[in-house]
Amino acid sequence: MIISDDIEFDLLLEAIWRKYGYDFRNYARASLRRRMEAFLVKTSLASFSHLQYRMLRDPVFFERSLDEISVQTTEMFRDASFFAALRNEVLPILQTYPSLNIWHAGCSTGDEVYSLAIMLMEAGLYERSTIYATDINPVVLQTALEAVYPLVKIKEMTKAYQQAGGILPFSNYYTCKDDKARLNPEIKSNIVFSTHNLATDEAFIDAQLVICRNVLIYFDRDLQDRAVSLMTRSLSHRGFLCLGSKESTGFLKAKVHLDVFNKDAKIYRKL
Ligand SMILES: C[S@@+](CC[C@H](N)C(=O)[O-])C[C@H]1O[C@@H](n2cnc3c(N)ncnc32)[C@H](O)[C@@H]1O
Repeated sequence: MIISDDIEFDLLLEAIWRKYGYDFRNYARASLRRRMEAFLVKTSLASFSHLQYRMLRDPVFFERSLDEISVQTTEMFRDASFFAALRNEVLPILQTYPSLNIWHAGCSTGDEVYSLAIMLMEAGLYERSTIYATDINPVVLQTALEAVYPLVKIKEMTKAYQQAGGILPFSNYYTCKDDKARLNPEIKSNIVFSTHNLATDEAFIDAQLVICRNVLIYFDRDLQDRAVSLMTRSLSHRGFLCLGSKESTGFLKAKVHLDVFNKDAKIYRKL
């Protein structure tokens, strides 16, 4: 059992912030601490102070740690009912715009972004869309850019696509080689992947749709407030904000600027 106290943990977060500019101080503390403790076990380091020492002196080790500390779980058409609501209720409204800016914040390895790109293609909207897909972690963005999936995942991806209302053969969207499925290049054509930190960076576009799902759950209330205010500021008039199934604007300051558009799908609309 690792014994490490709150002071060491605070100092570790402070050190990361001051040395690397990554601000984890307002993440949901208990879950971040659990992930850091698991990382200690994995690296055989005795305490948060030892981890701090190592991180401060070894930037390569820090980069690797970043990948371990953040939760990257994602999948294609995650929460099919959300994607069905997007397809059936939001995209018909977005049809009325001559061009679309979409910001996908906390995109991880890109599965949701590619799901959205496929839906936009099927709705005839992709050509006039630019998707800005961002994440704090450069390693996941590199994986996203590759857009290669193990063949064993194709069955579940196909099922999720169908549950989200997809009607074409999902095999239209990839080619297989060896034990890998590679998404067709045109799916990537209007996506710009880039690092962006919701804890420290500012708004950078005027978007008609902002998707940030399963990211706020890792933040405390103050950081949730910051992130949702930032995303709301990034929305154009009557733009849409989509959150994850366990997330809501309920207690956040920005809720005064947002209408509930679809309660179950966690889709909001700027007033
Ligand atoms: C659980 S994944 C969610 C991925 C995807 N949105 C989904 O729902 O399938 C959370 C992602 O948020 C990213 N993240 C964590 N903190 C962030 C921050 N401050 N700014 C931007 N992205 C962040 C993580 O790197 C990770 O890729």
